[in-house]
Order: sequence, then C-alpha cells, then structure tokens
Amino acid sequence: MSKIIYPLGSILFCFSVILYNCQPNPYREGERLYKSNCANCHMDDGEGLSALIPPLARADYLKTNRDKLPCLIRHGLKDTISVNGKTYAEQMPGVEVLSEIQIVNILNFVNSSWGNQNEAYRLDEVRNLLAKCGH
Ligand code: HEC
Repeated sequence: MSKIIYPLGSILFCFSVILYNCQPNPYREGERLYKSNCANCHMDDGEGLSALIPPLARADYLKTNRDKLPCLIRHGLKDTISVNGKTYAEQMPGVEVLSEIQIVNILNFVNSSWGNQNEAYRLDEVRNLLAKCGH
C-alpha cells in the first residue's frame, strides 16, 4: 500500500508547491509596477534625482500626505512641495491605467522599501480616497 501512497503524496506535495508559488505576491507585484511606472524618475533605490525629482526613500511627505497619495499616483501632481526640507516644483504625470489594487500594491511597496516603515494601505481605504480625487 505504501508503495502507492508515497508517490501519490509526493505528487500532491509538488502540486501544492506549484500552486503556492503561483499565488500573486502583493509586494512583488508592487515592486514590478514601481519598476515599470515610477523608477525611471524616482530611481530603483527611491532616492529621486537631484533637485528635480523628490525622493521616496525615507520621505516625510509619504507620512504627512498619506491621504493624498492614491490620487497623486492616478492623476499626477503639479505643485510646489517640500520633501525632507527641500523644495520641488517639477510636474509629475499621473498613471491613469493603474487599477485600485495596483495602486495599493505600489503604495505598500513604496511605504515598506528603502528604510520606509509606514502604515500599509487597505483596498477599501484607497478606493474611498480615489473616489474623492476631484477629477
Ligand atoms: C516623469 C517623472 C515621474 C514619474 C514617472 C513619477 N513621478 Fe512621482 N514625482 C515626480 C515629480 C517631479 C514630483 C514632484 C511634483 C511636484 O512638485 O508637484 C513627484 C512627486 C511624487 C511624490 C510626492 C513627493 C515625495 O517624494 O514623496 C510621490 C509619493 C511620488 N511622486 C510617487 C510616485 C510613484 C509611486 C510613481 C509611479 C506610479 C511616480 N511617482 C512616477 C516625478 C515622477
């Protein structure tokens, strides 16, 4: 009997490993989206670019403007802002094609990378904030 059960068990085990690895990982998804939509300006290490592009790594702006970030990603920003004591006034284009869950995953990636340890966003929270963007 064990001659049958053992191979069956290993096959089942292999299947569950494959299934587990196919589950979408929100952090990896956020990282992938960050690399394709944000890193060309804010850089892979989130440090930004001199006086033109503000940093995301350890940026006080992420904490003080938490409620604005979903709309900022979707619709961009054209303002004069202060990030870690420096002033920035270039324009950021919005990325309108991103879904609500993709915005959640990008924000949670940014807020837990490069030394950031900010509170994670929930989907219902981001959905509510996006509904109030005023666009
Ligand atoms: C074309 C360059 C560009 C791209 C692409 C871009 N940004 Fe920005 N980002 C900027 C600029 C410039 C500002 C400052 C805007 C201002 O002063 O009004 C900014 C500001 C920000 C801020 C607020 C300031 C800070 O540093 O905390 C956040 C957060 C942010 N961007 C996140 C993102 C995310 C996430 C993405 C990808 C979805 C992204 N940006 C894509 C150029 C860009």
